[in-house]
This record gives sequence, C-alpha cells and structure tokens, in this order.
Amino acid sequence: MSTYTSVIDMIGNTPMLELRNFKTGPCKLLLKLEAQNPGGSIKDRIGLSMIVAAEQAGDIQPGGTIIEATAGSTGLGLALVAAQQGYKILVIVPDKMSQEKIFHLNALGAQVMMTRSDVTKGHPEYYQDVAERLSGEMANSFWVNQFANPANPAAHEQGTGPEIWEQTNGQIDAMVCGVGSGGTIAGLARFFKGVKPSVEMILADPEGSILAGLVNDGEAGELGSWVVEGIGEDFVPPNCDIDLITKAYTIPDYESLATARELLSIEGVLAGSSTGTLLSAALRYCREQTSAKTVVCLMPDSGNKYLSKMFNDFWMTDQGFIQRPQHGDLRDLISRPFDDRAVVSASPDDTLLSAYGRMRMADVSQLPVLDGDRIVGIIDGSDLLLSLYQNQERFADPVSDYMTDRLEMLAPEEPMESLLPILRADRVAIIV
Ligand SMILES: Cc1ncc(COP(=O)(O)O)c(C=O)c1O
Repeated sequence: MSTYTSVIDMIGNTPMLELRNFKTGPCKLLLKLEAQNPGGSIKDRIGLSMIVAAEQAGDIQPGGTIIEATAGSTGLGLALVAAQQGYKILVIVPDKMSQEKIFHLNALGAQVMMTRSDVTKGHPEYYQDVAERLSGEMANSFWVNQFANPANPAAHEQGTGPEIWEQTNGQIDAMVCGVGSGGTIAGLARFFKGVKPSVEMILADPEGSILAGLVNDGEAGELGSWVVEGIGEDFVPPNCDIDLITKAYTIPDYESLATARELLSIEGVLAGSSTGTLLSAALRYCREQTSAKTVVCLMPDSGNKYLSKMFNDFWMTDQGFIQRPQHGDLRDLISRPFDDRAVVSASPDDTLLSAYGRMRMADVSQLPVLDGDRIVGIIDGSDLLLSLYQNQERFADPVSDYMTDRLEMLAPEEPMESLLPILRADRVAIIV
C-alpha cells in the first residue's frame, strides 16, 4: 500500500468486485467501485480534469469562483478539488437532491443554491440555465458546464477506461453506464472503440428519461419523473454521443431501489440509487446472454448519501415502493405502527426539553404521550410554544403538565368515515 501526499492523488484507481451472489446467467459481472474515490463518487475524476483544463486554458484565475449546476456529485468532486487549489465554488442543485449531499457540499465550503426540479431546460429556474446566467453576472467566475465540457469525457477516456482494461486483462464484452452529462458513457465508448470495438456499451436509463427511446427506437421516450439521482435526462447533453451506445434498458424506480437494497443485503455493498438502475440493467443484460461474457457495471456513488431515503423503510413505504397489506379501515392510515416500534413518543414524566428534542430529531410536530404502552395524552409544537413563551425555565417541567389529555380515541377497525367529524372539528384523533 502506498502513502499519498494529496487527496487529489487518490482520485481514480478504484477497485473492482465480482458479484457472485446474483443470478447472472452465463456471464461474469464485475462492479467498479467508484464510491471509493475520496469525494465518494465517480465525479471526483471530472472535478479534477475540468479544473485542470480550465487552469491550462486560462479560464480561471487564482481566487476565482467555480460555478456548476449539478445533481450533487459533480459539485462534491469540484468542491474537493477547488478547496485544495484555493478556488471558491457555487453549486446550483435541483430541489429533489438528498439532504446528505447538500450537507456534504456545505461542509466542503461550497455555497449551495437550490432551484426547482419540476421545470425543464429553457425555464429561467432550471438549474443549468441558472448556472449559465450567474456566470455571466459574477466577475472572475467560471461555469464548468459538465454537460458540454470536453474534459469530462476525456477523464474517462484517459482514466476510467484504461483502468477497466487493465483490471479485466482486456477480457471485457459489455460496459454498463448511466447518463447524466453523458461524459462517462462517451469517454468509455471512445476508449473501447480504440482497443476493442466489439465491447457493447449498455445504457441504464430511469423510466421517465427520454434517452433509452432514442437509443433503441431513434425516438425520445415519454418524459416523466423519477427518484433515482444523477442519471436520466430530458434532453441529450452535448457530451452524450447516442450513436456510440449499443442498447438501452429502461428501469423503473422500484426496481432500481430494490436492486440497490439487495446489493447491500447479499453482497454487503452500500451503493447509491443510480447503482440500482445500472445493476438492474446489467442483470437483465447478463440473463439475456446465451454465451459466457464479462460485463462491467459502474457503481457511481455510495449509499451513505441515501440512508434517509431508499435505505429507510418508512420513506420507501411513504413513496409506495414497499407495499403494506391493506385492510380497508383506519389501519391503512397508520404510517408508523406502534407494533413495529416505529412510534416516537414521550412519557408523562419526560421534560419539555426532551419532548422538544425528540420532535426535532424525528421531524414531527406532535408526540403521543405513553404511560407504559397506554396512551394518556398528546403534546404538540403549539403546546410547547405557548408554555415556553417568555418562560424558558419551563423546559424542565414534565410533559404531563402541558399535554392534551382530552383524546378522541378510535379503534383501528373503524371505517374511514368515523374520522371525518373529528377532523372537521379541528381535533386530533388517536387510533388505538
Ligand atoms: C450519481 C451519478 N451521477 C452522475 C452519473 C452520470 O454520469 P455522467 O454525468 O458522466 O453521464 C451517474 C451515472 O451513472 C451517477 O450514477
């Protein structure tokens, strides 16, 4: 093992893992663990290549501001390199991005600006249009524009591709990638065209993205929305050369998320949501083959940025990706059942301070008050506000002094209609 003198020297040379516990038909399936880059994703590679190219072209001056529109990971790669090289960075992200990525960007010293994720190219609040506009307005700034920057595919043509070639001893038949900016797939396709033109370039595309249709049928697929982060597009980025892609698979969100969770449970690899999409496509490809092939699939980032989402059963259930049995009564409305130890509660003797802390931690506005497993009251944010206003010493008082104990109780088997009069009277119903 070597010792490095800069985190930048640790970008690239990521390991590869053969997946032995999935059914892969006659194929050998290898996962390239790009989450092992120091910033946690494949995008460290282009963070480095695009900043170096900008320095060489004189596009960025010392102390200047790097601006980029990104789903998060490119921002992290750029922020990592920018911090080492002494640049400021402004990252524009669409508002569906996970909190963890935004916290990571903030921690690296990046300025983060959030824009709408429900608008498309050409809209003034579309994240890429915002980045372009700001770069025109800010002095000594440089808009990286990963979607058209040639240093993006070059990082994969000159770095990722040769690494895969060496790790497989040239024994590769198919390469599975996603497209965000198109840099990865275009760079790898160009590299393999040079060394082994028979390598099939396989696109894994989330359902709702237009790209798979263009690859398979020459026509854009129907545009929709998807929850997988970092891949799928509503336009063809200049860096994405569709003609270099052999075949595409459209993967629905539920399959991507289930596959990423399975990767953790059966192989022990904690990967991000897009890895679920890429691995789903790789598995479909492998199982369709009739002769032995070696297939390489990228793992673009780690699952540690998605712990509160796809690795959280409640989030999965709330989004409809995990189905619970339906009863046709009030039980169907309980999203955090007590029997699953899922209820965050207070006891009558807890202080208001601990009740407040628990509400903040669980991001809820009210707590049931339980004496053992018997409900005796409910305390909510307005009870706390009224009791604490100009009386901060009351933080030490017990919850029982301020809770509401006039409870409207309903049995779980009661019909939905029984709830309506209680809600119309603006009261809280407890289903026990
Ligand atoms: C998290 C993430 N970001 C971005 C990308 C897309 O890469 P590129 O922008 O090179 O197309 C991927 C590809 O799989 C990804 O998973």
